[in-house]
Amino acid sequence: MRVLSGIQPTGRFHWGNYFGAIRQYIDLQDQAEEAFYFMANLHALNTVRSRDDLSQLTLEAAVDLLALGLDPEKATLFVQSDVPEVSELCWLLLTGTPMGLLERCHAYKDKKARGLTADAGLFAYPVLMAADILAYDSDTVPVGEDQVQHIEVCRDLAGSFNHQYGETFVMPKAKLLEASAKVPGVDGEKMSKSYNNTLEIFEDPKTQRKKIMRIVTDSRPMEEPKEPGDDHLYQLYSLFADDAKREEMAAKYRRGGFGYGEVKKALADEAETYFAEARARRKDLEAHPQRVREILADGASRARRKAAEVLLRAQQACGVK
Ligand code: ADP
Ligand code: TRP
Repeated sequence: MRVLSGIQPTGRFHWGNYFGAIRQYIDLQDQAEEAFYFMANLHALNTVRSRDDLSQLTLEAAVDLLALGLDPEKATLFVQSDVPEVSELCWLLLTGTPMGLLERCHAYKDKKARGLTADAGLFAYPVLMAADILAYDSDTVPVGEDQVQHIEVCRDLAGSFNHQYGETFVMPKAKLLEASAKVPGVDGEKMSKSYNNTLEIFEDPKTQRKKIMRIVTDSRPMEEPKEPGDDHLYQLYSLFADDAKREEMAAKYRRGGFGYGEVKKALADEAETYFAEARARRKDLEAHPQRVREILADGASRARRKAAEVLLRAQQACGVK
């Protein structure tokens, strides 16, 4: 299994990103023969338009992933733009991409439906993503539900290139991440930075505790028994608590007669303990920025070696080399 996935550095990572994606990338590094993970800063350029924000968010994302357990000995971690071969491959793919295929892609379609104008970068976004995937001969792409359509586009483009020019690209498959789109935010809606309802992984614990204490709950009286599964506070608690604690909390909900304040406090405690080790590792990495730079440079050179090989194969296939 050759695993590859990218994550856009468009904001600080939140619990939804962790449980919906990052944790599973980290687990996969032990199962895959090779794993490539990168910060998709070229994709993020479509939304982050400040130089300082983009470069800082890209670096922070790398530090976060390493602190959370991504092991550069097991997985190749790099910045998308450090591999220029991918942009070149993107052009080769663009020349054979039907406009209609991209018009159906949801990022562009949704923006258009809201009456907004879109840039060509957003329109061509799935083609750059296809180049990301094909450049490393990846066969397994772990993604959330929202990205499955883009993997289909990638398979379409790889298939027609192979058909036109002969076998060139490995056909990738999406590996749907579990629980994606499920972590609720402080308002009970899906946690997302676009909804401004996130709890960030590396937020200052005190600030986070205050945010948790302000989570909106329903206003039914304390005495009333409640179904735990319906409550977003319980859903969040379940992400962190072990089976015994989760069962105990579920029983309290069903019995009634407890206060939400108690659950919020338990949630803040569990979350703090859960991420304590990662927080300590992050502090250590912050103190050694050179180490992070070396990891990324090494990742980029490994990634480039592979991408150059695939790009040459594609260039020779279509007659530009
Ligand atoms: P956001 O919605 O905050 O902009 P992204 O779209 O950048 O987050 O998501 C990056 C990854 O994290 C994706 O793989 C996505 O499926 C996952 N993810 C984001 N929010 C959640 C959530 N609330 N629950 C589960 N997974 C999520
Ligand atoms: N578009 C993906 C997202 O927004 C990020 C991404 C870019 C990606 N290139 C990729 C994911 C290649 C998987 C494979 O989440």
